[in-house]
Amino acid sequence: MSLRTPFTELFGIEIPVLQAPVWPAASADLVAAVGAAGAMGSIAGVFSRADALLAQIARVRGLSDRPFVVNHLVPSLDEDAFAATLGARPAAVSFALGHPGELVARAHEAGVKVIHQVHTLAQALEVSDLGIDVFVAQGSEAGGQGMAAGVSTMALVPQVADAVAPAPVLAAGGVADGRGLAAALTLGAAGVNVGTRFLASTEASATQPWKAQILGARSEDCVRFETWGAILPASGYDVVPRVIRTPFVDEWYGRFDEAAAQAKRLRGEIMHSARAGTPEALTPFAGQTAGLIGEVLPAAEIVRRMAVDACDALRRGAASCA
Ligand SMILES: Cc1cc2nc3c(=O)[nH]c(=O)nc-3n(C[C@H](O)[C@H](O)[C@H](O)COP(=O)(O)O)c2cc1C
Repeated sequence: MSLRTPFTELFGIEIPVLQAPVWPAASADLVAAVGAAGAMGSIAGVFSRADALLAQIARVRGLSDRPFVVNHLVPSLDEDAFAATLGARPAAVSFALGHPGELVARAHEAGVKVIHQVHTLAQALEVSDLGIDVFVAQGSEAGGQGMAAGVSTMALVPQVADAVAPAPVLAAGGVADGRGLAAALTLGAAGVNVGTRFLASTEASATQPWKAQILGARSEDCVRFETWGAILPASGYDVVPRVIRTPFVDEWYGRFDEAAAQAKRLRGEIMHSARAGTPEALTPFAGQTAGLIGEVLPAAEIVRRMAVDACDALRRGAASCA
């Protein structure tokens, strides 16, 4: 089946779903499975040196000939890894967490399209003259890094869509099924950028305890952890992560000054658990859609259900108009 939008047309894909670069769980298997299902996957480039990133790109290409994206975080950009990415010519690079500046032109010169994630209308406007091919408008429901003073997806997407038209916009945050995809399209988006739902997929390299946390979490258990700003201050956009509550999060929630005084130790603990691929003990990133997710599914089934259910929802909506 297909659900065509300007985003699918741009990349020659069938389903307007981008699997977000859910570091450290965006395995090559996940990226390839999403692509094979007609949507598009993202490799998470953060913390990867050039050789490791090239190896990951080769793994994805060994599994699938479908287009995919390689993500880089602007504030911590590794120049060698970025240059290697451009040399490998993925369908697109995606940027997040800061103003991408001349990185956009460099990608275009290499023949690579650019996707950029923003959290506010102001952030979209300040990059609107760079020629960005696709914008991601990330609302405050989203898992992972987002603005402490966030704007909901429902309010943000139409504003960004109006501001950057005709560039396609993907909605991020609050989308885990076909109803969310249909809602995003109705708000003026050309698709969705989905993280948490794909974390709870068979192919994601999230640990079983992390996946189990997502299945068990209610939306209100997924909190914006502002104390993070005292431990790992943002250097681009003013972001802190949305995480599932754990004893560690409960212990430090709201204790900004005390966390700042112990920042070095806490930073070491968080980074150790994240790089070990076991963030579930301390700060497991996840969005409010965790409350919508009841089972681990193969990525292809997630994509298929999203597309089928979105079309059903859109048809039902159209049928009620006189
Ligand atoms: C575990 C996790 C890791 C993430 N890592 C990245 C990343 O490395 N780069 C990035 O641009 N976005 C990252 N994000 C944010 C996503 O791009 C996206 O905005 C978000 O997942 C959408 O919200 P949802 O998780 O509620 O679907 C991450 C999100 C999660 C949940």
